[in-house]
Amino acid sequence: MRVELTVNGELHEADVWAGESLLTTLRDRLELPGSKNACEQGECGSCSVLLDGELVCSCLVLAAQAAGHEVVTVEGLSGENGLHPVQEAFAETGAVQCGFCTPGFVVATAELLRRIPDPAEDEIREALSGNLCRCTGYQKILEAVQLAARR
Ligand code: FES
Ligand code: FES
Repeated sequence: MRVELTVNGELHEADVWAGESLLTTLRDRLELPGSKNACEQGECGSCSVLLDGELVCSCLVLAAQAAGHEVVTVEGLSGENGLHPVQEAFAETGAVQCGFCTPGFVVATAELLRRIPDPAEDEIREALSGNLCRCTGYQKILEAVQLAARR
């Protein structure tokens, strides 16, 4: 089936199979590999994207469900002026080790700071509770979010 969806502000068409996830479409058809596939079960958050502004696991959304909607991936957060402040903060604080979880954390953090510009620590932990990291122990990630919020 053919779907049309807007990704990072650009209209795309793709031929997908009926059960294909949005994550597969983004990575394998639209050449946007930023969203990562770690569990494909909605457990890790590495595939997080914004769908009409709402944070979703793109492995749990069908491409067909996203048809006609607006998707923003981690690639869409940086702009002409360079990295998004959240991306800069993650890099500066050393919140990135293997980096596999990072796109999901960055998207989830950007969404959090849009809703709550100055979140308390428990609000940050709650907002990012759907994102798993095997490397950092989360402290640097917390610092990155706080740095991004200050900016
Ligand atoms: S790959 Fe989607 S939640 Fe893990
Ligand atoms: S930096 Fe490796 S899983 Fe988070």
